[in-house]
Amino acid sequence: MGPFVKNAWYAAAWNHEIGPEPFARTILNEPLVLFRDTVGDVVVLEDRCCHRHLPLSEGKVIGDILQCGYHGLEFDCSGACVKVPGQTRVPPGGIVRTWPVLEKYQYVWVWMGDPDKADEALLPDWHVMDDPGWAVVKGDPPFHIPCHYELFNDNLLDLSHLAYVHIKNIGTSAVPDFPIVTTRGKNSVRMIRWILDSAPAPLYARFGGFEGNIDRWQYAEAMVPSFNTVRVGCMPAGSGAQAGDHPDDIARGPGGREGQGFEFYNLNAITPETENSTWYFYAHSRNFALEDPEMDEEFRVGLRGAFQDDVDILAAQQMNMDRHAHNAKDWIDINVDGPGLALRKMVDDALASEIKTLF
Ligand code: FES
Ligand SMILES: [Fe+2]
Repeated sequence: MGPFVKNAWYAAAWNHEIGPEPFARTILNEPLVLFRDTVGDVVVLEDRCCHRHLPLSEGKVIGDILQCGYHGLEFDCSGACVKVPGQTRVPPGGIVRTWPVLEKYQYVWVWMGDPDKADEALLPDWHVMDDPGWAVVKGDPPFHIPCHYELFNDNLLDLSHLAYVHIKNIGTSAVPDFPIVTTRGKNSVRMIRWILDSAPAPLYARFGGFEGNIDRWQYAEAMVPSFNTVRVGCMPAGSGAQAGDHPDDIARGPGGREGQGFEFYNLNAITPETENSTWYFYAHSRNFALEDPEMDEEFRVGLRGAFQDDVDILAAQQMNMDRHAHNAKDWIDINVDGPGLALRKMVDDALASEIKTLF
């Protein structure tokens, strides 16, 4: 727990949340105000007027100008104060911060660190958000969770919890019986689990119309600091999914064969708001029932319900940690914690190297 990795993209909003009105959202303890300028580009400024600190989001956008709602100072899209009512001179320091911003995969991403290091290539490959071969359901609005973001990183890399938290929808009691394989990349951790010849979870049975057992895969890949791509799918048991019909690259689809199974991605951008609160942007992208509003609704409602259960768990976990001033040092670890612990180590290393470059 502590400071945040700054040199990274963070999801600040869904693209559809941002229009010509000021929109306030705090990330990494920085209050931001976002709006679209007259050509439709997203502008991100510090949500704190340099005069007397009123949130600029309480003011109004006039063309490409954001006017403070208290004494009318006006700021352009670069954050420079360009007008002070009643005087011709803008005093020194008449500027608010801005950050690099990128609109991609239907998210608005903000780079919170050194602007010279901002690089689009550091985003995960989430092309399935824009690919016509995949149908997308966005988790809207994002969940707001009263917990430290790393608790959520742990959650998404340890899917054994499906057997307990999600038994009514996406879990079965068999999940933890199957071992995981963990691999570490430079800035990422991958967890793979195959659940073979096993009954489908309730939502899986509905999605796939299966009559018998299935072979199911879970590929979860997390990148520093907190992107998590979960690729899951299933085929009828014994139909060869594990033998090679399922490609090994998590970012490339599709897996299951037409009519014999399905696959979907669960794309997770976890953005710290403060030390103990987190924004959770998730989306699903599926490779079946593409033009099917009923299936959209199944995903929207079914998986939001499932994730609400995670939110409740994480909030309760954080509350207990706060109550007893516990920290990550006095808990025990079990085998399924391996991927989450590997990611925590990478986040700590990234933080240490950012702190080192300050001196
Ligand atoms: S606080 Fe913004 S103009 Fe005074
Ligand atoms: Fe979960």
